[in-house]
Amino acid sequence: MLDQNALKRNAAQAAVDYVLPLLGPDSILGVGTGSTVDLFIDALAPHKQRFRGAASSSERSSARMAQAGIQVFDLNDIETMPAYVDGADEIDSGLNMIKGGGGALTREKIVASVAQQFVCIVDESKLVAKLGAFPLPVEVIPMAMAAVARRLARLGGEPEERKGFVTDNGCRILDVSGLDIADPAALEARINDIPGVVTCGLFAIAGADVALVSGQQGVRQLR
Ligand code: 5RP
Repeated sequence: MLDQNALKRNAAQAAVDYVLPLLGPDSILGVGTGSTVDLFIDALAPHKQRFRGAASSSERSSARMAQAGIQVFDLNDIETMPAYVDGADEIDSGLNMIKGGGGALTREKIVASVAQQFVCIVDESKLVAKLGAFPLPVEVIPMAMAAVARRLARLGGEPEERKGFVTDNGCRILDVSGLDIADPAALEARINDIPGVVTCGLFAIAGADVALVSGQQGVRQLR
């Protein structure tokens, strides 16, 4: 029986196998954030000569890639990328996701938006019939915390400040439980429209293009 870490490692290796054929010597790869992505970076490092470098979604991933000898580029210098690889906190069969458990949701959404495809890597515990058991992370401008929390409560959520946490952008996170996420894209647009919200952790307007889901029987592809 494989434990969760072994499942994550298998998903990470599957992502390396998936992206390498897409990469050439001039290619930049988009890289997400989290424990699954850490394993992806480790598995990718031996192949660093096969592509130019990476665009990173967090200081955490940038540091790990620098340590592994993968050059990290400023996103402003990149026009396009063949793929963006990242984990998720939850993903449904329509490839809508909740992300941001690691607090990197905004940069993740930005880097993903520049890539031609989003490759989501998860162990099978993240695959859900309906999003919302995992509290939805919402990145907020500090002065707007109370105002945004009131608006989220009006949407039926129970927002809780992620205590002692500051994002790479100098902002804060509200983790919102209890939301009914019947229409992920509509809720994403609605929350993103609240003044003071930087972005919410729903990735549904632009979800994943492919999910590599790691289970006891191996890694399967969902599209
Ligand atoms: C970070 C994220 C991560 O992708 C998500 O939290 C999954 O992390 P892990 O691979 O550690 O389970 O969105 O902001």
